[in-house]
Amino acid sequence: MPNPTLPLDRIIQGDCVDVLNRLPESSVDLIFADPPYNLQLRGELWRPNMTRVDAVDDEWDRFADDPDDPARAFAAYDAFTEAWLRACRRVLKETGTIWVIGTYHNIFRVGKLMQDLGFWILNSVVWVKTNPMPNFRGVRFTNAHETLIWAQKKRGARYTFNYQAMKHLNDGKQMRSDWELPLCTGDERLKINGQKAHTTQKPEALLYRVILASSNPGDVVLDPFFGTGTTGAVAKKLHRHWIGVERDETYVRLAAERIAAVQPAPFEEEVFVFQNRRNRPRIPFGALLERGLLRPGQTLYFGPKGEVQAKILADGSLMWNGFVGSIHQVASRIKNAPCNGWQHWYYEDSDTGRRRVIDELRERVRAGRLES
Ligand SMILES: C[S@@+](CC[C@H](N)C(=O)[O-])C[C@H]1O[C@@H](n2cnc3c(N)ncnc32)[C@H](O)[C@@H]1O
Repeated sequence: MPNPTLPLDRIIQGDCVDVLNRLPESSVDLIFADPPYNLQLRGELWRPNMTRVDAVDDEWDRFADDPDDPARAFAAYDAFTEAWLRACRRVLKETGTIWVIGTYHNIFRVGKLMQDLGFWILNSVVWVKTNPMPNFRGVRFTNAHETLIWAQKKRGARYTFNYQAMKHLNDGKQMRSDWELPLCTGDERLKINGQKAHTTQKPEALLYRVILASSNPGDVVLDPFFGTGTTGAVAKKLHRHWIGVERDETYVRLAAERIAAVQPAPFEEEVFVFQNRRNRPRIPFGALLERGLLRPGQTLYFGPKGEVQAKILADGSLMWNGFVGSIHQVASRIKNAPCNGWQHWYYEDSDTGRRRVIDELRERVRAGRLES
């Protein structure tokens, strides 16, 4: 249950450091932060056809800039970054994780500060933009990606990662750290009088993946740089609580209207709750014997085409070459490296004669489908 003093499903207008410092400590499950980039743009940017590029030149992205003293210029941005990262770390639960998105302008500085403050980086994810803005002057490569740092509050703590859900989202293949997604365009892009309402509105698809991967229904997702409220809109669709902090009054209003219009599909546990390492039941290998899915004396094969074979003993251990151990111990002995037996041992399907990985039998037990 969320901390009852949290302002759930609300936008708070104000400076995120001030606001976060008033929230209860260790109360938030997930943070998504899309901070100012500190682009340091000097002058306007024009296309070859003399139309002005809609670049990020907003007031909220302006920090000190001094071409003669870059260190001094960056110091203001670093101080700001350190302050909001500290405030985020205070409100995160011990089991919580944070995502920070940025570009080459800021992400290296952010990453260094995160590590200094004790965050433990789990991944850096590259958002590969399928429709990036070209480099109009042709003086550099097209800047076609942003980087997301995913980190936990403390090294070694439990945290949510819906591994299977990510695999399903990726057509059954392990989800990789390079995500190809388009920029936010079309109807999703909020407009005021036909112009973009916000220069850096993020695509909902990006937040969908972030929130689905690293939180569960009922969790509290906080965004300290809420902008148009993309995080809140997606959190609401996925039945998470959300808290947004935004300084600018216009964005607060836009985000509130946007989220109010979201009508999530009715909550059904089987649709929105996934089994992850934390909540799925542990199935020992022996359970496959007890339930008659494999039998004592049966042969297991190491790999789908592997020549190496082991015999299943009645107590659920394997015997290979005179060595007896668990599916993991025998697999590790064969590979001479730590090894997850569920993914390496195959049995012969008596109906088709084809080899199938034993992990499929474990999934059947989990799902309660016990017919062989
Ligand atoms: C990069 S944008 C976030 C865009 C957002 N992810 C979206 O999808 O619309 C950063 C936002 O942070 C806000 N902001 C900047 N400094 C802030 C601060 N100190 N406290 C709260 N909001 C701030 C800006 O007004 C801006 O809307």
